[in-house]
Amino acid sequence: MTTPTRRLVVTGATGKQGGALITALLSKPTASFEIYALTRNASSPSAQRLASKPNVHLIEGNFSDPTAIFKQVKEPWGLFSVTNPMDHVKEEKEGKAMTAAAVQAGVRHIVFTGTDRGVNSETDETTVPHFASKFHIEKDIEQKAKQSNGKLTYTFLRPVAFFDNMTNDFMGKAFVSMWKLNGEDHKLQMIATSDIGKVAAEAFLNAESGEYRNQAVALAGDDLSPREAAKVFKEVTGQELPTTFSFVGVLLKWLLHKQLGLMFNWFKSDGFTVDVPELKRKHPFLKDFRAWLETESAWAKKSQ
Ligand SMILES: NC(=O)c1ccc[n+]([C@@H]2O[C@H](COP(=O)([O-])OP(=O)(O)OC[C@H]3O[C@@H](n4cnc5c(N)ncnc54)[C@H](OP(=O)(O)O)[C@@H]3O)[C@@H](O)[C@H]2O)c1
Repeated sequence: MTTPTRRLVVTGATGKQGGALITALLSKPTASFEIYALTRNASSPSAQRLASKPNVHLIEGNFSDPTAIFKQVKEPWGLFSVTNPMDHVKEEKEGKAMTAAAVQAGVRHIVFTGTDRGVNSETDETTVPHFASKFHIEKDIEQKAKQSNGKLTYTFLRPVAFFDNMTNDFMGKAFVSMWKLNGEDHKLQMIATSDIGKVAAEAFLNAESGEYRNQAVALAGDDLSPREAAKVFKEVTGQELPTTFSFVGVLLKWLLHKQLGLMFNWFKSDGFTVDVPELKRKHPFLKDFRAWLETESAWAKKSQ
C-alpha cells in the first residue's frame, strides 16, 4: 500500500532546524512528502539551494502574516513551526498566529520546536522571556488540539543549547565567553541541529504513533563543561577552544539582557535536565560534542 503524499509547510527552512528537517526527510526514500519551504526571500542563496532539491517548493512569506503563507499551499497536512526569539512578545504573538492559520488551513500535525525548560518543562515558563513565549505557544497548541477532537495533533521538540552556536567567528567566541562566566566546570547540555532535524522527520513520519502523537520530546546529545569542551576541542583540532575576553561576555549579557543575560543566568541557576543516556538508547544517532566537531562544525568542514 502506498502512503498518500502529504504537504508539509516548513518554517525556518533556510535556517538550522528547518534546513536539518528537510535534509533528514530527503534522506528517507520512502517518505512521501511535498515540502513547502518558507523564506522571506526566495532569491537568497540559501533559498535557491533548497529550490534545487527534489520535492521542495519555495514559498515566500513572513511570520507577521501566516494566513498568506497557507494560501500558497493546497490542503497542507503538516507544519514545522520555528519562531524568532529576538522579541519575546512578538515571538509569542507570531507563534500563536502561525498555529491559528495552520488550523484554519486544515493542518493535521504540527511539530513545534521550542526549548527544554528543565525539570518542570510542562509547567514552568522559566525566567527566560523567550523560553516563556515558547511555553505559551505550546499551551495554545495543546488547547487547539483538545478543541479539535483528535483532528489536530502535535509534537513538541524541546532542544537544549545548540553546538552550532560554536562558530569560528565573533558570535561563536562570545558564546563560549558567556558560557565560561558560569564556571569552567559548570555543565551545559547541548545538541546538534542536524539531530533535531532527524527527530523532527521521525515525528512527521510517525505522527500517529504513541511516541510522537501529542508528545513532547526533550533533545540533548551531550552534557559538558567549558573545561571538558576545551579538552575535546584540543584533541580534535589541535587548537584552543576559540573564545574572547570575559568582559565581552559580561557586556553582551548586559546589552542583550532579555535574550542572553537571563538565559545564561538560568543555565547556571536551573539548567536543562534531559536524560541524555536514556535518549541515546532511543536515538543512537545523537551526536556528542566530539562527533559534532569531527563531522559538522566549521573546523570539520575546514579540514575536509
Ligand atoms: N541557538 C540555540 O542554542 C537554541 C536552542 C534552543 C532553541 N533555540 C531556538 O531556535 C529558534 C531559531 O531556530 P534556528 O536556529 O533553526 O533558526 P536560524 O538558523 O536562526 O534561522 C532563522 C530562520 O527563520 C526564518 N525567519 C526569521 N524571521 C522570519 C520572519 N519574520 N518570517 C519568516 N521567516 C523568518 C529565516 O528565514 P529567511 O531568512 O529565509 O526568511 C530562517 O530560515 C529560536 O526560536 C531559538 O530561540 C535556539
